[in-house]
Amino acid sequence: MLSTNLSEALNDQMNYEFYSAHVYFAMASYCKNENYDGFSNFFLVQAEEERSHGMKIYNYLHNRGEQAIISGFEHPDNKFESILDAFEKSLEHEKEVTRRIYNLSDIAADEKEYATISFLRWFLDEQVEEESSFDSIIQNLKRINNDSNSLFMYDAKMAKYTMPTSAE
Ligand SMILES: [Fe+2]
Ligand SMILES: [Fe+2]
Repeated sequence: MLSTNLSEALNDQMNYEFYSAHVYFAMASYCKNENYDGFSNFFLVQAEEERSHGMKIYNYLHNRGEQAIISGFEHPDNKFESILDAFEKSLEHEKEVTRRIYNLSDIAADEKEYATISFLRWFLDEQVEEESSFDSIIQNLKRINNDSNSLFMYDAKMAKYTMPTSAE
């Protein structure tokens, strides 16, 4: 059994991870519609990862004797000015996720809930990787600076992106 406070906070984060999948589906669809199948693939894989993050918390809650409470969520952004804009917004989104995981870690630490502290360590490491990966894509896109040939090549590279094994 977890405290009500911690159980609610974990549920909240589980739902936020599922919402994150939604955020990335919207970005995938924007890219697809702009004929950037590679970037679209990247966001689809990202959405799949977010769903697996949500499921990690879902399973953890059940392992601790709690029911996962599924909620709805607000509409994600569907309009973007450019591929770069979508990636900048995704980095902002990841920073918000990181802030939330820190907050969750604070609650677990206050309660001396060592098993949950250990469980959350994976998420802390994952957020470092996620922020760094989005940041480097943004740097590359800025360097490309709308050069259509380079953007075409980068898109082709992104088409090969698959789910990293660390995300499973
Ligand atoms: Fe996530
Ligand atoms: Fe993420």
